[in-house]
Amino acid sequence: MRSLLFLLLVLRWTSGELPPPERSYKILMVLPVSSHSHRNVFLPLAKALAERGHKIEMLSNTNKPIVHPGIHEIAHNLPEFDVSTLNLFDTRKEPEGSFYLFIDAMPKFARKIYHLPQVKELYARRKEFDLVIADHMFNEVAYPFAYELPFMTIATPGMDYRQSAVLGNVLNPAYVPNFLLPTSLDTVFGRLKNTFLHIFTAIHWRLWKIVPSVQKEISAQFPDLPPLLDIERNQSLTLLNSHFSMDMPVPLLPSQIEVGGLHCRPAKPLPEDIKSWLDGAGPEGAIYFSLGSVARGDSMPSKYRDMLVEAFKRLNHRILWKFERDIEGVSDNVMIKKWLPQQDILAHPNVKLFITHGGLLSLQESCYHGKPVLVLPIFGDQEKNGIKAQTSGFGLWLVWEELTVEKITESVREIIENPRYSETISSVSRCLKDQLNSPLERAIFWTEYVVRHKGAPRLRSPGASLSWVEYLLLDVLALFFLIVVTVLLVVRWIVKKMLRAVFTKSKAKTAKKKNQ
Ligand SMILES: *[C@@H]1O[C@H](CO)[C@@H](O)[C@H](O)[C@H]1NC(C)=O
Repeated sequence: MRSLLFLLLVLRWTSGELPPPERSYKILMVLPVSSHSHRNVFLPLAKALAERGHKIEMLSNTNKPIVHPGIHEIAHNLPEFDVSTLNLFDTRKEPEGSFYLFIDAMPKFARKIYHLPQVKELYARRKEFDLVIADHMFNEVAYPFAYELPFMTIATPGMDYRQSAVLGNVLNPAYVPNFLLPTSLDTVFGRLKNTFLHIFTAIHWRLWKIVPSVQKEISAQFPDLPPLLDIERNQSLTLLNSHFSMDMPVPLLPSQIEVGGLHCRPAKPLPEDIKSWLDGAGPEGAIYFSLGSVARGDSMPSKYRDMLVEAFKRLNHRILWKFERDIEGVSDNVMIKKWLPQQDILAHPNVKLFITHGGLLSLQESCYHGKPVLVLPIFGDQEKNGIKAQTSGFGLWLVWEELTVEKITESVREIIENPRYSETISSVSRCLKDQLNSPLERAIFWTEYVVRHKGAPRLRSPGASLSWVEYLLLDVLALFFLIVVTVLLVVRWIVKKMLRAVFTKSKAKTAKKKNQ
C-alpha cells in the first residue's frame, strides 16, 4: 500500500499526464562550463525526456558521464573547470571571490574546446539536432552549437535579471535585488547601490571581463558566425530554476517558465544503517550536515573542522555528517559518511535541521522536504541564499571567519527549539507542492513545445529586439524634449512679435497725441 502511494506520488511529481510526443526528437544539451550542481538541474530533465523516447546528447564538464540508454554524455575532460582540483575555501580570500577563476580560464578554454576530437565531431553533425539546450550561465562559449537551430536555455541559478533582459524583460532594480550581493532596498541609498550593481554586473561579465575574451577566441575559429550575444538573443525560451513559493514573485514573459525544484522528489527507502540511526535519534532528533558536492568538506581548514567537532560534542542531537574521510575525536552522536542520499535523509521525520553551504539545490530540497536550515555559505550565490533563509524566517546563517563553538551550538538550538523556523519552512513546502502540474512536467512540456512549433516564434517578446535607447524610451524622451523646446521657442517668438506690435502701435498713438 505504501509503495503504491509512493509510486503515485512520484508519477504525479514527474512526467504526470502529458500525452506522448509526436515523434522522437534529437536534443543536444551543452553545458561544458557547468559545475555538478548545474548539471544536476539538467539531468532530471534529460532522463525524463529520454524516458519519453527522445535521444539526448550532452556535452558537459564531468569525469563520470552518465550511463543511460537514452542519454549519450560527452565529457571534454579539459582541466579548466575541474572543481575536484579546486579548494573553494581558498577563493574566500580573493577580492572577486570565485569569480577570478573565470577571467583566466575562459579564453584558454574557448581556444581549446573546439579542437578536441569528440567536440569537433559533435559540432560537425550539430544540424542533426531538433533542439539545442544550453546552460544560460557561464556557457557563452557553447553558443556556436545553437546557431541556426531552435535553441533554449536553462537558467540553472534561477532568475538572473541579465538573462531576463536578453529575453526582453528588464526587471526593476527598485525591488529585484542583485543576484550575488544582497542589498537592503528599504532606503534610497540601497536602491542606488542595487541599480548600479544591476548595470555593473551585466557590463562586467558581458561587455568587459569575460564575453569579449571568449568572443575573440571564437571569432578566430569561426569567422562567419554572428556575435555570441546575438546568438544568445535568438533563444526561444528559458526554464528558470526558481519558483515564487520559495523565491521572489516577479513579472514573467510567456517565454520564462518557472521549474524550480524540478529535481526534488519524494523519499526513497534509506539504507538500513542510516535508517536505524535516524529512527533511534529519539525526541531530540537528528541534524544532517553537508557542504554539497562542489565544496568538499576535506578542503575545510582544520580550525573550522575542530570547532564543528567540539560543537557537535556539546549537542544532544544525533548528527549525520557528509565528509570525504574519517575524522578523529568525534563524539558518539556523530556518524560520518562519504556519500549520503540527501533527499531521503531530509524527508526523515526525525531530521530537525539541515546544516548546509546554502547551494541553491540543497536549499530547494530543504524547502521541498520542509526542513529548516543553518547556512554556512562558502562562495557564489550561497551567502545570498543564507541571508534569504534568515530573512524569510526558515533558517539562520553564519560567516566562516567569525565562527565559534558557541555560535554554532546557539544557532542550532535556536532553530530546533524555536518552532517558528519549522513552521515557516512547512508552509513554504506546502505552497511548493501545491501546483497544477509538477515542475518537471512543465519542463518537458515546454521543451517539446519549442521543437513542435519550430522555435516557437509566437513566444518571442518584441522587447527582445529593441536597443537600450528604444527600450528605455530615451529616443521618445529626446523627441518629446525637442518638441517642447520648439513649441516654447515658437510661443516666445509669437509673444515677442505681438508685444512689439502692441508697443509700436501705442508709441505711434502717443506720438500722434503729442503732435496734436
Ligand atoms: C533563430 O531561431 C530560429 C527559430 O528557432 C531559427 O530557425 C533560426 O535559424 C535562428 N537564427 C539564428 C541566427 O540562429
